[in-house]
Amino acid sequence: MENFVMYNPVKLHFGDGVTDKIGKIAQGYGRNVLLITGRGSAKTSGAYEQVMARLQGAGLQVYEYSGIKSNPIIEDVDKAAALGKEKQADLIVALGGGSVIDSAKIIALAMKYNGNAWDIMEEKHKPTDAVPLIAVLTLAATGTEMNPYAVVQNNCQQKKIGYGNKLIYPRHSFLDPSFTLSVPKDYTAYGVVDLIAHSLEAWFGEGKASLSDRFTLAIIKEAMQYGPELLKNLENYDLRARIMYAATCALNGMTVYGKKSQDWGVHAIGHCLSVVHDVPHGASLSIAYPAWMKLQKDRIPQRIQELGTALFETNTVDDTIYKLEYLFKNLGSPVTLNEAGIDLQKDGVKEKLVKVMTANKVSGIVHKMDENDYPVLLQLMQ
Ligand code: NZQ
Ligand code: ZN
Repeated sequence: MENFVMYNPVKLHFGDGVTDKIGKIAQGYGRNVLLITGRGSAKTSGAYEQVMARLQGAGLQVYEYSGIKSNPIIEDVDKAAALGKEKQADLIVALGGGSVIDSAKIIALAMKYNGNAWDIMEEKHKPTDAVPLIAVLTLAATGTEMNPYAVVQNNCQQKKIGYGNKLIYPRHSFLDPSFTLSVPKDYTAYGVVDLIAHSLEAWFGEGKASLSDRFTLAIIKEAMQYGPELLKNLENYDLRARIMYAATCALNGMTVYGKKSQDWGVHAIGHCLSVVHDVPHGASLSIAYPAWMKLQKDRIPQRIQELGTALFETNTVDDTIYKLEYLFKNLGSPVTLNEAGIDLQKDGVKEKLVKVMTANKVSGIVHKMDENDYPVLLQLMQ
């Protein structure tokens, strides 16, 4: 087991009606709030109305930046940061899914910087300060509500990259599962896939930490049991709550303490599918994971088999991969490029993906991949 520091400063408020407290808590950070939202779901779900009423009810001045797209883009981050500076926002409240919260994290840093936000993503600028951030999560998936990471896309450069900084842990995160009742079937499935994928990125990481591995398996088992049930009962609060808590735990540190690192190779592949074809994040992972395992099966057969034994009671690596693929398929998430509307046979499609994978230097931290692997991976995703 590796040495580790356990640190997570996010105060997480979980349950029905928890945003009742947001006004009073937000007051503690100042008077001017920059509210970041997506493309409309917060309004249709009723979350916007509730949060806005609490913030305004506490006497706060709220300025809004809406329109953050799924697979968020850096242009929105720059525009929202400019608005935040102009209005001298003391606090950012992010109301939405991972795309909104991730954007808000970089906005929080960009408001303290006089250059382009992409400099921060590429670590050309090293921030020393951030505007405080409160997250109100409306979609169970990414774990961003309790971690210091953000993933943003730069379409001009055809890059989607992750960024980590202790300064962007949300000060508070509000997780009311009833806010997720309106998430449609497809994004509900992608969220379950994403939380399983985060667990797998830990499983296939480096280092031995048996308790962290047990947490990892427990989180996947929770998703295997309640994910398919939720997809049949989208309006069931209790199932929404179980999946929401599982998604938070899948990427808040508890699966990696005592390990050297996670892998993140599959996420790197998925990000390229999102950059080039705007594939939703979870969908990109249900396509990439089985292919990645097929690529790795002769390199790490034992680790794949340990997973199969623990989760599916399988006896072979091939059977394990088949079972994982079936799990994703059964949730209703695509497992091939074709199912996501990507035709590799079409002129230039494969070449473009290989080019973007090369430019993004797609690889795992532990299980390395390079240009020789990319065409094989694409073939395996077909
Ligand atoms: O834009 P709106 O109208 O809000 O609609 C969103 C969007 O269309 C909708 N939605 C959100 N809450 C809803 C809802 N619809 C109905 N009812 C609700 N309550 O769902 C769609 C997807 O939203 P998005 O925020 O894009 O989804 P998700 O939470 O899966 O976030 C994906 C992003 O997070 C990044 C991904 O790469 C992707 O860009 N990730 C962030 C991570 C992190 N910070 O730790 C780790 C992850 O691996 C991931 O990479
Ligand atoms: Zn993910």
